[in-house]
Amino acid sequence: MSTTALSTSSVGTPLVGVWLIGARGSVATTTVAGCAALAAGLHAPTGMVTETPPFTDCGLPTLSSLVFGGHDTTSCPLPKRAEELAAGGVLPYDLPSAVRAELTAADAEIRPGGPLPGDTRTDDELIDSFAADLRGFVRRRGLARAVVVNVASTEPLPADGDPRLPASSLYAAAALRAGCPYVNFTPSSGLHHPSLAEATRASALPHAGRDGKTGQTLLRSVLGPMFAQRALAVRAWSGTNLLGGGDGAALADPAAAAAKNAGKERVLADTLGTTPEGAVHIDDVPSLGDWKTAWDHIAFDGFLGTRMVLQTTWQGCDSALAAPLILDLARLTSRAHERGLRGPLPSLAFYFKDPDDGSPAALGEQYGQLLDLAQRLRETR
Ligand SMILES: NC(=O)c1ccc[n+]([C@@H]2O[C@H](COP(=O)([O-])OP(=O)(O)OC[C@H]3O[C@@H](n4cnc5c(N)ncnc54)[C@H](O)[C@@H]3O)[C@@H](O)[C@H]2O)c1
Repeated sequence: MSTTALSTSSVGTPLVGVWLIGARGSVATTTVAGCAALAAGLHAPTGMVTETPPFTDCGLPTLSSLVFGGHDTTSCPLPKRAEELAAGGVLPYDLPSAVRAELTAADAEIRPGGPLPGDTRTDDELIDSFAADLRGFVRRRGLARAVVVNVASTEPLPADGDPRLPASSLYAAAALRAGCPYVNFTPSSGLHHPSLAEATRASALPHAGRDGKTGQTLLRSVLGPMFAQRALAVRAWSGTNLLGGGDGAALADPAAAAAKNAGKERVLADTLGTTPEGAVHIDDVPSLGDWKTAWDHIAFDGFLGTRMVLQTTWQGCDSALAAPLILDLARLTSRAHERGLRGPLPSLAFYFKDPDDGSPAALGEQYGQLLDLAQRLRETR
């Protein structure tokens, strides 16, 4: 990536780009508005792990040095999306006007995504065009580097033998072509598509995924180890999610929901050492908007086979849970790139439902690995 003509933030640090795929979605809009609010000191960084003491002096880019852009297939301006989110109670009511300038600046850096129906470009032409958008962003804004973060609608799993790459993999390939580190916050294929395996290895760029762990799976990654460590036998673990918004609508497609649920169920198998009975359901309830209710019903046996049940109800605002993690991931991945770390970053498993093979599944162990990464990022070469 070019290091000439670098721009700096108001406090003199190099600017770092965050290129959001799905840049006009709820998570992306909350990320851009939230970053501006924190950088201006309007709100405390609640939910941001990288703002806690273990991450001080790790050389992470400051929040005021992050510059946003991205791709999306819709055209609704970001300030308007922020107003919609404020009307739904996702953003504080006065935030869209307070950070209008930052939303407008990010909006100017959003390029048309694809492929839209009727687009006749080949996969390679699409990748080239997305990579050119990324290179243009880095050059125009004088960035030291840019991290690509996928927060677009969840795709169905690709059909076996389909010669075309799914959109998420086209963008991931474009990140490689433009020399950008890559984070997949969704269950979509992204870099995991088999036909990208060789290019991913050859690029040696740091990358992390998949699917942000913000609610039900976060709880599962804490409760699963508890049952295992206390030698309590889980007989069945069933879950239901009710949510609306764009994510709820996308997950109403059974094929997209299957991609999402695979990660939710994997954490149980990995922490319990066995797959209990029970399934996960996702119901689209449009009137809930971005507010999700996740209910888990856990049937387990205690001493002498005594039957017991734990039920949990999680009521969260999805974008408010996800946005601080996007900022954390962008900062950590950017610093990893700067420090010359290569390939998958399993130490970021803390953030994902379906992390890279070989990472622990229990949240406590994942946090330990994240702290080790913080230490590596702190060390000078
Ligand atoms: N707690 C959370 O919010 C959470 C947790 C884990 C994962 N995720 C994932 O994050 C993603 C975003 O969630 P959201 O609530 O912001 O959804 P959303 O529907 O509000 O936003 C998705 C955006 O992606 C855009 N998009 C769709 N196809 C595209 C394409 N081919 N190219 C570019 N843009 C495209 C849409 O136009 C939309 O603006 C989803 O995949 C969701 O599953 C969210």
